[in-house]
Order: sequence, then structure tokens, then C-alpha cells
Amino acid sequence: MFAQAARQRDPEEDGERFRNKAMAAPLLIAICARVLAPHKIPESEQVLAVGAAAMNMLNALHLLGYGGFWATGLNSYDPRVQRALGLGEADRLLGFLYVGTPKEATRAPERRAPESFVREWSGAAR
Ligand SMILES: Cc1cc2nc3c(=O)[nH]c(=O)nc-3n(C[C@H](O)[C@H](O)[C@H](O)COP(=O)(O)O)c2cc1C
Repeated sequence: MFAQAARQRDPEEDGERFRNKAMAAPLLIAICARVLAPHKIPESEQVLAVGAAAMNMLNALHLLGYGGFWATGLNSYDPRVQRALGLGEADRLLGFLYVGTPKEATRAPERRAPESFVREWSGAAR
């Protein structure tokens, strides 16, 4: 389905790199949000709630010893892929969790010091 959508987006494309992407992990979980509007819960909160659920899924599968990676890309935003997955007008495809058993251990990436982007707010200046 990834390869077919890629070929339809671009007739010059044979779709193989997208097929390889789909086959990169033994399990792909499509993360979808159904956004209801108008609704008392703002759209951003509805989408963020699903993002938080996806993060919990990643945390859970890492705790179980699996590896997981969240990726979007052209296929996530392609209406053909969304239709093929059975998504409707109100649904948003927020990407795919690629899940499998890691082949090798990865090291935590270097992080910026929190002081460079976290600011403590201690009340309005008098
Ligand atoms: C919604 C979402 C979509 C992402 N899509 C991609 C992607 O298409 N390709 C990719 O290489 N990484 C993707 N990532 C992974 C991020 O680039 C990044 O590696 C990951 O969020 C870890 O961030 P950190 O290194 O700041 O902790 C995505 C992450 C999120 C949350």
C-alpha cells in the first residue's frame, strides 16, 4: 500500500523505498485521531491526547524490551493511504509506530543542558 501510494504520487517512482520502509519493522501501528468539531474539547487537545497515548505506547513497549520509533513522512499525509486504512473525513493519521526487537543497543543522544531552554517563572515583576 505504501509502494502503491508512492507510485501514484509520482509515476517516476517505483515505490521500492516505501515498501522497504513498511517492511523495516515487524509491526506498524497506525496512530489515528478522530477529531470532532465543533466539540467542547478543542481540536488541539483531541490531537494531543492521542499523541500522549502514542507516547505511552512507546514507553510501554520499551519497558517490555522492544524498540519503537514514531515516524510520519509522505505516506502519513497521503489521502490514498488514509482511505486504504479505512480512515474517514474526521480522522487524522498522525504517523506510524515502527515496533520490533532492537538489533543493537542504542546510546541516549546528547542533550542540550535544560538551563538553555527551561525558564523558571516566579511571579510578575513588581
Ligand atoms: C509525531 C512525530 C513524527 C515523527 N516523524 C519522524 C519521521 O518522519 N522521520 C524521522 O526520522 N523521525 C521522526 N520522528 C522522530 C523525531 O525526529 C525524533 O527523533 C524523536 O521524536 C526523538 O526526539 P528527541 O531526540 O528530541 O528525543 C517523529 C517524531 C514524532 C513525535
